[in-house]
Amino acid sequence: METITTIPELRSRLDAERETGRGVGFVPTMGYLHAGHLSLVEAALADNPVTVVSIFVNPLQFAEGEDLGAYPRDPAADSAQCEALGVDCLFVPSAQQMYPRPVATRVEVSSVAAPLEGVLRPHHFAGVATVVAKLFSIVGPCRAYFGDKDWQQVCVVRRMVSDLSIPVEVVACPTVRESDGLAMSSRNVYLSAEERRQAPVLRAALDAGLDAISGGERNPAVVEAAMRAVVGRAELASLDYAAAVQADSLVSEGPLHGEVRLLVAARFGRARLIDNDGSLIRPVC
Ligand code: PAF
Repeated sequence: METITTIPELRSRLDAERETGRGVGFVPTMGYLHAGHLSLVEAALADNPVTVVSIFVNPLQFAEGEDLGAYPRDPAADSAQCEALGVDCLFVPSAQQMYPRPVATRVEVSSVAAPLEGVLRPHHFAGVATVVAKLFSIVGPCRAYFGDKDWQQVCVVRRMVSDLSIPVEVVACPTVRESDGLAMSSRNVYLSAEERRQAPVLRAALDAGLDAISGGERNPAVVEAAMRAVVGRAELASLDYAAAVQADSLVSEGPLHGEVRLLVAARFGRARLIDNDGSLIRPVC
């Protein structure tokens, strides 16, 4: 595995690979890799002759007072895990390399970025879209792998790629869970023992929403109430939202139909966790 820290070096390495007909798979991350990230890496390795993983904790997507400074980091373990899986290039740019001067250009996605996370973290998706656009510009034509858990992020990146005709295929991969159902997240490390015990309630809320839909419920408000009631059983959870929405628009207009997504977000002490699982939902008719 080659570890690359500068933009020109990564560009020329990947251009050379493509010139010899070797397609590129790309997994953008903020590091502190867990089994969820590794499943994205494995998917990229299986689909593409060359795989690049980036590790960059992107300051643009954290608001004042969020956990940028505390965000967990373990570069040595990340590198060892990527090497063991057979990653070809690890891209680890510094903040100076990515943003040598204050950023004057930002990518703002409206529509799918507006509801849910967009209401609670109004600047978050502009930060994500800006860094992902920059990473796509550096990596060049590729398949890029994102986790289903962050379904709204997948929608934002897909919309950006489509609107800006970026030559990247966005691949969404299944949510990976601990044995008790908690979705893998770097932020799980913030949970106290008791918060950790209660956090699988988010997955239970998705199950409750799914059960309501399977039982014939098509009113999003009723499905959402079922999800909220489950989160309410965890005394340490403070719910941000529980939503039953159309998968492509992330809003629910009238009865649920077609592809539906259930999304939930809650705080447990310092940890803000979100959950979504595309594999749970069948098309609703
Ligand atoms: O999902 C993440 O880890 C980040 O939002 C991403 C896509 C790497 C952009 O910083």
